Amino acid sequence: MDSSTPKPELSRDEITPQKLYLTRRQFLKAAGVVSASAFLAACLGTPEDASPTDPALADVQTKRELAENFNNYYEFSLSKTSVAEAAKDFNMQPWQVEVDGLVRNPKKYTIEEIVSLFPQEERVYRMRCVEGWSMVLPWQGFPLARLLEDVEPLPEAQYVGFMSILRPEEMPGQTSLSFPWPYLEGLRLDEARYDLTILATGLYGEALSPQNGGPIRLVVPWKYGFKSLKAVVRITLQADQPVTFWNAIAPQEYGFYANVNPSVDHPRWTQSEERRIGETGSRPTLLFNGYDEVAPLYEGMDLRVNF
Ligand code: MTE
Repeated sequence: MDSSTPKPELSRDEITPQKLYLTRRQFLKAAGVVSASAFLAACLGTPEDASPTDPALADVQTKRELAENFNNYYEFSLSKTSVAEAAKDFNMQPWQVEVDGLVRNPKKYTIEEIVSLFPQEERVYRMRCVEGWSMVLPWQGFPLARLLEDVEPLPEAQYVGFMSILRPEEMPGQTSLSFPWPYLEGLRLDEARYDLTILATGLYGEALSPQNGGPIRLVVPWKYGFKSLKAVVRITLQADQPVTFWNAIAPQEYGFYANVNPSVDHPRWTQSEERRIGETGSRPTLLFNGYDEVAPLYEGMDLRVNF
């Protein structure tokens, strides 16, 4: 993501024609998600049942082994394959999430309270990193909207800011002065309340591992992965657009909105294609990562300017 991040290598010759635009409902059905309370089915999605038209573009769940050993988590390491080892002793107990700012009911929740207060459900989502790779991941978690209802945002609240934990004694990357720690992210309040936006506490039917953002992280599937902040400790309702980590570092490269968009290229590489981890070749990037239902949130906005 920084200037040392290599440009993803995508070969035009390998692209399968773009035929598949699954809606979320079709996608969840294809992926075998049957009810809100259903936990992980042993096998989610096969090329045959996921795509009626082009099996090569079907969404197949990424193997757990890959998802847990190929991570972006700069607090631990800049090397994706080193994060799991570097994070293995990260202490996730006790854990507290503070919700404050423009709310009627500011609260501090322990992770245990969160899991018991808010019914956990499974969501199988595509995850598209701004660097040009993607995965299909079976999260367990709950809509952020439920937590927001609990704290009751005041009418002046327009945005939600998120903060990751600051713990340099356990996170070697945080001793680097090149980055403005802690990692921060933000959403507009309507995006935060949108049903697809979840706080995840599990992955593959088990508690979230440290490298995947445990014990609790944000997941916003229609935005580039950097919006999905790991290890959340604070959520703040505010009137103004929050400062965010990558946008503060390189605003011309990482916008506040960061909606997945094949027609807005990163200044240093194309966004029209992506590499699905575990597959060879590349596939077309889908607008809003295929979650077209969010389009009304951006009606009247120029997505090229507000990228
Ligand atoms: N959250 C924190 N706190 N620190 C990070 O470095 N990286 C982001 C996001 N959340 C990051 C983060 C990026 S760039 C991506 S693509 C996803 O996490 C990667 O999530 P994964 O490692 O679980 O696949």
